[in-house]
Amino acid sequence: MSVNGPDEVGLALVIGAGGGLGAALVAGLRQPGAPAQAAPAVLALGRHTTPVLDYADEATLAGAAQWVADEIDARRMPLRTLIVASGYLHGVIPGQPGDRPAQPERSGSQIDPAYLAHCFKVNAIGPALVVKHFFPLLARSGPCVAGFISAKVGSIGDNALGGWYGYRASKAALNQIVRTAAIELVRRNRRAVCVALHPGTVDTPLSQPFAKAGLTVRSASVAARELLAVLHGLTPAQSGGFFDYRGQALPW
Ligand SMILES: NC(=O)c1ccc[n+]([C@@H]2O[C@H](COP(=O)([O-])OP(=O)(O)OC[C@H]3O[C@@H](n4cnc5c(N)ncnc54)[C@H](OP(=O)(O)O)[C@@H]3O)[C@@H](O)[C@H]2O)c1
Repeated sequence: MSVNGPDEVGLALVIGAGGGLGAALVAGLRQPGAPAQAAPAVLALGRHTTPVLDYADEATLAGAAQWVADEIDARRMPLRTLIVASGYLHGVIPGQPGDRPAQPERSGSQIDPAYLAHCFKVNAIGPALVVKHFFPLLARSGPCVAGFISAKVGSIGDNALGGWYGYRASKAALNQIVRTAAIELVRRNRRAVCVALHPGTVDTPLSQPFAKAGLTVRSASVAARELLAVLHGLTPAQSGGFFDYRGQALPW
């Protein structure tokens, strides 16, 4: 998406803005000369913002979407960029007895319904609710991008290592949701782009327990800059695809 004329000025929204990558994406969007707009036009939502957005409670998505609708009206700018940067791989599952941090499965013997359900809630169902509540707010004409941060391990075609059942399966589900939403979105705005994005390995709380020698780990700010360049460089013909941080298409 290239933002050229005054008729194409718009708001950007990052959901999952409190995460390592989410915060870096907000900062990247706010930099002067970024592909989207300047500081006041970047909105950030998450579990620690006002209003709150928590996938555990759909009412918070409805309330946050109303806030964004009010911002669109007040600023007289359409919503042109939506990025969903939330995700779950490991950690405490709210409401689970003992509050023991859960970890991804190394083998099928470790499959745990509560961990699987939480992966699906944060990685797939939450983003699906974003489609439900926020896609109606996206610009109806002119350039418009929706990027969902997925993960290459969600690729079924690329799965050669096994393990991580819940994370892999929930990201594969996310990819299907993104593909489906892209088909619907283009009927609303023929210039819209809706894609799943793989950020590579990024230094955030999500990846830290799995950092190992030989793995290329990039900072969140570098990853955010690369992802924004990819996202805003895509054309409507590429909508519905799955791309990595270098812009390379990934297999489903
Ligand atoms: N880091 C990597 O190497 C890597 C690699 C591949 C893919 N990814 C993907 O990149 C994305 C960003 O991850 P990250 O590395 O930045 O991880 P992170 O720092 O752990 O951030 C995770 C984000 O998910 C949000 N979240 C968790 N539970 C939520 C809920 N119930 N409702 C709403 N939001 C919730 C968090 O919100 P709060 O701010 O409220 O805590 C936070 O913004 C994820 O989709 C992840 O799967 C990361």
